[in-house]
Amino acid sequence: MFGCMKCTLVSIGLVMAAAGIAPAQRQSSPPIAKTDAEKKILAVLDDIVKSHHTYLSVPMQDGRALRLLTETAGAKNVVEIGTSTGYSGLWFCLALQSTGGHLTTFEMDHQRASMARGHFQEAGVDGMVTIVEGDAHQNVAKLKGPVDVVFIDADKDGYIDYLHKVLALVRPGGLILAHNVDMVPDYVKAINNSADLETIFYMEGGGLAVTLKKR
Ligand SMILES: C[S@@+](CC[C@H](N)C(=O)[O-])C[C@H]1O[C@@H](n2cnc3c(N)ncnc32)[C@H](O)[C@@H]1O
Repeated sequence: MFGCMKCTLVSIGLVMAAAGIAPAQRQSSPPIAKTDAEKKILAVLDDIVKSHHTYLSVPMQDGRALRLLTETAGAKNVVEIGTSTGYSGLWFCLALQSTGGHLTTFEMDHQRASMARGHFQEAGVDGMVTIVEGDAHQNVAKLKGPVDVVFIDADKDGYIDYLHKVLALVRPGGLILAHNVDMVPDYVKAINNSADLETIFYMEGGGLAVTLKKR
């Protein structure tokens, strides 16, 4: 009944080739907007990339993953550590305009925070976003829970400290997402060694750890 794994993979590849699905097509097409609000956010995301107003921003594949996970979780309270110019924040907003939720995002660089503010206004989502300027290591400690989704994407040395500070605030069933996982081996060890957490790694873009808080 079961063939060898290699034969199965070859067969799947042949079926996909026959169906005309090339690997690149599975990832690269931008989302199709369903509403005017979605269209407006996607247009600003596109402008940010075209005008090079990104700064260490996530690639589109990861942005899509952030949106999909947040919307699936029905998240009302999302926290992002590392706003930059608002690119990943806008992907969160695509989810939040459907869940009716809010994004609190932390950034220590004033110029990037100002650009992010402009992008959120342009996309018409400034009402659903709070930008907290300053050192996130201090400011995150003032957060109140419950938090549905946290995204850690700031100073790599700080990931463990952020994890310790936000974990108690994340509701059971909530998600802790962390970007560039290949750069933070201690963080990966910490999440993999906890019985309270379950993690998978999405590696289509910059490397995203997707961690479920089980209890
Ligand atoms: C990788 S970028 C974030 C990219 C953003 N998430 C995106 O995809 O559009 C990291 C950002 O974290 C900010 N950052 C670094 N250390 C920080 C700290 N201690 N507190 C607040 N922000 C910090 C940096 O200024 C930088 O803008």
